[in-house]
Amino acid sequence: MKIRVGFVGVGGIADVHLSNLSKNAQVELVALCDIAEEIVRGKAAQYGAKAYTDANRMLDCEKLDALFLCVPPFAHGDLEEKAAVRGIHLFVEKPLGLDMDVVRNKAEVIRKAGIINGSGYCLRYLDTVAKAKQYLLDKEIAMVRAHYITSFVPTTWWRDGDKSGGQLVEQSTHTVDLVRYLAGDVRKLYANMELRVMKDIPDLNIPDVGTVSLVFASGAIGHMDTSFTQHDHRTGVEILGRDFRLIIDGTNLSIVDKERTITYNSRMDFYREQDNAFVEALVSQRPELILAPYTDAMKTLEVTLAANESARTGLPITL
Ligand SMILES: NC(=O)c1ccc[n+]([C@@H]2O[C@H](COP(=O)([O-])OP(=O)(O)OC[C@H]3O[C@@H](n4cnc5c(N)ncnc54)[C@H](O)[C@@H]3O)[C@@H](O)[C@H]2O)c1
Repeated sequence: MKIRVGFVGVGGIADVHLSNLSKNAQVELVALCDIAEEIVRGKAAQYGAKAYTDANRMLDCEKLDALFLCVPPFAHGDLEEKAAVRGIHLFVEKPLGLDMDVVRNKAEVIRKAGIINGSGYCLRYLDTVAKAKQYLLDKEIAMVRAHYITSFVPTTWWRDGDKSGGQLVEQSTHTVDLVRYLAGDVRKLYANMELRVMKDIPDLNIPDVGTVSLVFASGAIGHMDTSFTQHDHRTGVEILGRDFRLIIDGTNLSIVDKERTITYNSRMDFYREQDNAFVEALVSQRPELILAPYTDAMKTLEVTLAANESARTGLPITL
């Protein structure tokens, strides 16, 4: 029996999931919903699904096994709750929302419903990240240096902090999550963020540079830099311990110690890996196949929202 999947939001990232799921023999794409009627009709025709412009109607009319939630951060409403109480498994794109209390409540509803859940922290599915995690198993981490330095995203909602949460919450969150996945939970942070050189962009009200100083639960320290002032794209995490360092540059990994440097180049499609893992978790009822469940994504959101708050108040925050 196929997994009957629905979507709310069929914009940029949904295209990636739809393409992956359409190639997965265990999936039937049943229904797509978006407030942009013309777009959703086009996508529904392309994938042989039914089109909706009202998510409530879609949930009422269709019998779905799983729902992919691919709306912008400000537009989640109570869709998670509505799916969870109907027993519909959930894949929720990052960031989970913009308000911790709201997201904690959603997490509780999801937990009580017992549905299988995943989030869009796709970098966890990289083969190189698995190697890095394996290498770090018996290592003590001293320090973490991370960055997400890229160009401006022209999407209209992205430039408005009330809608996107800003770059760290919406975009650089991928690297924050990778840092958490490899180095563990963050205990304390202090952030500075400014809108410095991109002020001429109409309606832009989010910082174009930011840096977050981190203290981990393990006692390790680190920092995360974020910026969209550049014409090109660089992301990375460097993890240092005594006489070793591990460098993730984009999707590639180098492990450097006294004896040698080993480099692994990833050639995999981590989005497809993530989507297939989610489907397989449902088919085989093995939620452990999902590397970034909702509660984990919630902890990453907590770090990024706390960084925003620290930058606003000028005060360190203990999580
Ligand atoms: N995991 C990743 O690598 C990755 C990459 C890109 C985007 N994302 C995340 O995915 C989410 C969506 O981003 P995007 O780039 O696809 O945005 P987008 O603007 O391209 O698409 C969002 C879609 O949601 C629709 N929408 C908005 N409100 C809605 C509502 N209430 N009901 C139904 N549809 C609604 C819009 O009409 C639009 O078609 C964001 O949270 C973003 O951070 C994740």
